[in-house]
Amino acid sequence: MSDTPTVKITHGDTVIDCAPGETVLQAMLRAGIDTPYSCRNGMCLTCITRLVEGEVPSDSQIGIKDTLQAQGYFLPCVCEPTQDIGVAPPEPAEIFGRAVVTEVAHPSKNVCRVRLMPATPLYYRAGQFINIRRSDGLTRAYSLASVPSLDRYLELHVKRLPRGQMSNWFYEDLQPGEAVDIQGPNGSCFYIPDKKDQPLLLIGNGSGLSPLIGIARDALNDGHTGPIHLYHGTRHQGGLYLDNLLRELAEEHDNLSYMPCLSREDTPETRRGRAEDVALQDHAELAGYRVYLCGYPPMVRDMQRRAFMAGAALPDIYIDPFELRDLRKKPRD
Ligand SMILES: Cc1cc2nc3c(=O)[nH]c(=O)nc-3n(C[C@H](O)[C@H](O)[C@H](O)COP(=O)(O)OP(=O)(O)OC[C@H]3O[C@@H](n4cnc5c(N)ncnc54)[C@H](O)[C@@H]3O)c2cc1C
Ligand code: FES
Repeated sequence: MSDTPTVKITHGDTVIDCAPGETVLQAMLRAGIDTPYSCRNGMCLTCITRLVEGEVPSDSQIGIKDTLQAQGYFLPCVCEPTQDIGVAPPEPAEIFGRAVVTEVAHPSKNVCRVRLMPATPLYYRAGQFINIRRSDGLTRAYSLASVPSLDRYLELHVKRLPRGQMSNWFYEDLQPGEAVDIQGPNGSCFYIPDKKDQPLLLIGNGSGLSPLIGIARDALNDGHTGPIHLYHGTRHQGGLYLDNLLRELAEEHDNLSYMPCLSREDTPETRRGRAEDVALQDHAELAGYRVYLCGYPPMVRDMQRRAFMAGAALPDIYIDPFELRDLRKKPRD
């Protein structure tokens, strides 16, 4: 709990007392306001809200692009207000663009690959993420697997989760021709072409491969000369949903190595173990490397620490934890 006094949040006709230590999102949900959110920790931007009166701490605007910050947009899930404020839902025209689904494929029994054509060009870097908003307002973040200089479409890889609202809709119901709202691009997990001979280590599990394939293709297309080591982890062989494509890409590029890792199955063409453990066995000394970690949040955060301990400089470790809206009875650690 902080020393901040109770302040008032005005949302339309509703005035809510926000207790010390409470976030604006918590206060709005407590008051029964139906507002979108997912990760609750400033990662996904699905809760983005407009400030119409007062000021909010500047750290509640981290990750929001400058032009939107200047218009008062902030993230209520990480905002503990220090003064009375007025808030409103985002202006759709300021936040969202439109995109039409052009293709839905199911490369594994749990992952679908969705291609979208935005109504106006989206200027993004491979590996960034966008938010997808369904017509009922449900909004979730998905990383971009496409590369702007190579692909006309936006590509997402969505892993179906048990009882997951958006991911099951993607997997079961979404059809080409359907339109969705998109917000973004967001995030800073992408390739920077400043040191072309730097070794890159890319580790992801499940659909955590999505930003990594974009980053790897972007680096190769940009003429990266250093080695690029891509580790994809899953439990069983069926989860290696881009196996053929990645093997072909590695055949074409001498500096790309692809290492599929299975934690529950042995096969002649895969390594046994978690992707992050296998990667560290192969690359025990990471000084001078740039490391990209994407997917399951506990893996990403643990591996961030281990990569640092192995010698990677903190600014050279890029992370994209796929934080979920936690609806489980027992919270994750
Ligand atoms: C920056 C970022 C990038 C991301 N990129 C990707 C990506 O590229 N690909 C990808 O697949 N995901 C990605 N995610 C995760 C994605 O945003 C969604 O959170 C994910 O798809 C789950 O959404 P959902 O609506 O299907 O699940 P939700 O409905 O939000 O459910 C979340 C969790 O709660 C469980 N649950 C749901 N209902 C219940 C219930 N009644 N009781 C108990 N448990 C329940 C679900 O199994 C699931 O584990 C990303 C997240 C972030 C923050
Ligand atoms: S950034 Fe607020 S819910 Fe994810």
